[in-house]
Amino acid sequence: MTIAQMTWDYSDPRTGTSMPASFFFDQGVFDEEKAKIFMNCWHVVGHINEFANPGDFVVQDIFEQSVVVMAGRGGEISAFHNVCRHRGNRLIDERRGNRPGVIRCMYHSWCYNQDGSLRGAPRTENLEDFNKKDWGLRHVRFEIFANFVFITLDENAPAVAEIASGAEAEMRRFLPDLDNLELASESDVIVDANWKVIQENSIEGYHFDLSGPVHKDLAALINFEGYALTPYGQWWTYIGPPNKGAKEAYGVPLEGSTWQTDWFFNIGIFPNTTFYSFPYTDMVGTFIMIPLGPEKSLLRFGYYKPKGRPMPPVTEAAIEWMNTQLGPEDIELNITNQKGLHSLGFGSGKYLIDPARPNQSENLVHHFHTLCYKAIRE
Ligand code: FES
Ligand SMILES: [Fe+2]
Repeated sequence: MTIAQMTWDYSDPRTGTSMPASFFFDQGVFDEEKAKIFMNCWHVVGHINEFANPGDFVVQDIFEQSVVVMAGRGGEISAFHNVCRHRGNRLIDERRGNRPGVIRCMYHSWCYNQDGSLRGAPRTENLEDFNKKDWGLRHVRFEIFANFVFITLDENAPAVAEIASGAEAEMRRFLPDLDNLELASESDVIVDANWKVIQENSIEGYHFDLSGPVHKDLAALINFEGYALTPYGQWWTYIGPPNKGAKEAYGVPLEGSTWQTDWFFNIGIFPNTTFYSFPYTDMVGTFIMIPLGPEKSLLRFGYYKPKGRPMPPVTEAAIEWMNTQLGPEDIELNITNQKGLHSLGFGSGKYLIDPARPNQSENLVHHFHTLCYKAIRE
């Protein structure tokens, strides 16, 4: 079957069937998603406080592309392609760090300033028609949204604030420390699953109290009757009020602890950015599924804490619990789900969308699938 023949009728999620399984492992679909979704969407790189000192940088890879976001001498942020203009050598091979002086290419020592301009190129003084001004690093478009830096490889992409109109206000309701964050830790996990399989799992509450034991711990912290999953065009929220009767969380007593929010707050921006906070924690998490191949993704967990404040023990326990318990329990489901999608016994499934059970609804899964399908087909 060619990809053009692979179609899906998404018009009625209640009577129809879910996005066909082949969309989750077909190389042609993946190539289309790469070209039509990821090469022109916005990618979150980090909080602006990660660029507080001159030379602070974060490197973000998007498939074969690699982009450096760096703070300059005056504190201004620049984003540029991570490649030397001389012969195309990659410049920086770390995820983040600080370059206090210049960015020096390890090959022939061309040196670039923190804003990407070319400072020096050895032995080029006799070259005809060579002007350093013309050989700075090529810039990449970036924007700051909710005090997080986003980049895009598409000069014509609509602004993040336009795509996610209303999202920042919603974030500020639950994440009052948004302006004052610092990165506490980041962990990357390679998952043998399509990026959409990972996303789907996070945007439905149906499996909360029906899957593994750790999920039940989370469900116990939420007043699950009030769990609400709401699509807003290219972004969405899934939010649960706290279970006010909770005495402990993540294996630690709640008594004496402090938190930014006691709600379970999650906000997703298409295609793969999520900001969230666990109930009773003083943190802002990022949860990003980065596609590496049709059946391989890099799952990146970022944890930000209010700058200069010690982390409450409950928050510390929540991060540990996410990294070692809830995360692995979901990843296991991602992997078994990915395997099952190949089966001749599946093909396409059924969404649980029942107005009588809004808190268990898979409406966001359908919404997300539709955005993905439209992006590559319409
Ligand atoms: S490739 Fe960078 S200096 Fe030659
Ligand atoms: Fe889950």
